[in-house]
Amino acid sequence: MLALSEACERNKGPLLEVLRGAFAACHTALEIGSGTGQHAVHFAAHLPWLTWQPSEVAPVPPALGERVRLAALANLRAPLALDVREFPWPAGPREAVFSANTLHIMSWESVGAFFRGVGATLEAAGVLCVYGPFRYQGRHTSPSNAEFDAWLRAGDPDSAVRDFEAVDALARAQRFELAADHAMPANNRALVWQRH
Ligand SMILES: C[S@@+](CC[C@H](N)C(=O)[O-])C[C@H]1O[C@@H](n2cnc3c(N)ncnc32)[C@H](O)[C@@H]1O
Repeated sequence: MLALSEACERNKGPLLEVLRGAFAACHTALEIGSGTGQHAVHFAAHLPWLTWQPSEVAPVPPALGERVRLAALANLRAPLALDVREFPWPAGPREAVFSANTLHIMSWESVGAFFRGVGATLEAAGVLCVYGPFRYQGRHTSPSNAEFDAWLRAGDPDSAVRDFEAVDALARAQRFELAADHAMPANNRALVWQRH
């Protein structure tokens, strides 16, 4: 049996609607930290104009490769090994990058590497969509996010719910402009940056 993330099952529908708009003009998408592969399969199935490239830190979990293989979608590629800290990232082309629930897991140094990598891998007019919890003006958006942040930090001092303003500054350093900030279920956000 393939691992199933309940959170992915709940958020993949609302996320699909965000990506349907954000990636409407894109043909190639790279996903960072694909996890179980549920997002990759769902988005590739419903956004057929896009070629979807999942990735994971090496060694790529066999279950991710298996879920992708079983989906048998012509526009879904076998997962690549990709650690945001290791440059250069595997070659593109990439017109879009998507990543869910990764920035609060990786260290802040890795978040910096994530944005440098996205800046280098995306074509001139690329789109980036990041999903997850964020703080705004130093405040959590809900008590449950504050509890989640404390739980994360207790498990790994390098992990934390990130400040939107600090993340947006990293994006702007790569010449991205925030195009949308969607409220999502469970107090998460879907942030979309565009480079013109
Ligand atoms: C909470 S899981 C999210 C998985 C999936 N995107 C989802 O929404 O269910 C965090 C993911 O971040 C990935 N990750 C952590 N550090 C990373 C790094 N340095 N480079 C790339 N991915 C990383 C992990 O491998 C894992 O897949």
